[in-house]
Amino acid sequence: MHPVLDPAPALLEEAAVEVVPFPDGSPLSEAAIRDAVEREGCGGILSQVMDPIREVVLSTPGLRIVANVAVGFDNIDIPAATRHHVMATHTPGVLTDTTADFAFALMMAAARRVAEGDRFLRAGRFGGWAIDMLLGQDVWGATLGLVGVGRIGGAVARRARAFDMPILYTDEVALPADVERELGATRVELDELLARADFVSLHVPLSPGTRHLIGAAQLDRMKPTAVLVNTSRGPVVDEAALADALRAGRIFAAGLDVFEREPEVHPGLLDLGNVVLAPHIASGSVRTRSEMSVLAVRNLLAGLRGERPPNLLNPEVVPG
Ligand code: GLV
Repeated sequence: MHPVLDPAPALLEEAAVEVVPFPDGSPLSEAAIRDAVEREGCGGILSQVMDPIREVVLSTPGLRIVANVAVGFDNIDIPAATRHHVMATHTPGVLTDTTADFAFALMMAAARRVAEGDRFLRAGRFGGWAIDMLLGQDVWGATLGLVGVGRIGGAVARRARAFDMPILYTDEVALPADVERELGATRVELDELLARADFVSLHVPLSPGTRHLIGAAQLDRMKPTAVLVNTSRGPVVDEAALADALRAGRIFAAGLDVFEREPEVHPGLLDLGNVVLAPHIASGSVRTRSEMSVLAVRNLLAGLRGERPPNLLNPEVVPG
């Protein structure tokens, strides 16, 4: 496992679980994870978003549970886990509001040029108030397009109400009519959302159907004043196409917390002023990362005890 935050290590200690540490932060190969799990005879893995947990790892004899310290689980091959009778879990719920806060922070930072202003000032370029300095786009009253209104998308929508933002959304399933009314939200097709929204915020899981959901054609449909925000998964956006669109001014700005090949960032984005770049920290508040650690460890311990973990992704696997 990678390090987790207090009080999760104490739970492992209490349960007398023997821990095999993985290095923090560095992406591990499937082979390296398999080697460690096989060598140490691990019954469980506490995994993070950058750990590839696929066939090679999941077929390790004796492995019973993989507990992801994240709500997203595209790093785990769930059908392969099920085939090998390995339980897989994630940490939904505890990070919803913290992640929604960050999506909003990126929206505001990109629209109002907060990071750009900080760089401008530190570079000694602030020569006094000027009427046309670093002009941005208003957030209040602007139309927000939510691509996906699950837990996190819904929490972004609730924040947007306080900013008087009409909401357009896409989702496989429509929200109940009373929730639509409460949020001021209208379900539309993606193309219509892209054409009408001033802010487009992505809240879909990564799947074959959502990979490059936002590419050159979709960016072309957006308003030249629009802002794109991604706190979901990097590959949902075609980063090269986004860099082109931002450079050409086809959209106003973007705020990104996730990237196609983390920890790499497309070089075309790095020297652009109109994109705010964050190192995958949307759920990164002290409280939330601690709660994610505890929930993941509770899932892990349940699986190791042969019980059904609270956040099981593949209920076809019978604990034991
Ligand atoms: C983080 O990206 C998560 O899925 O929790």
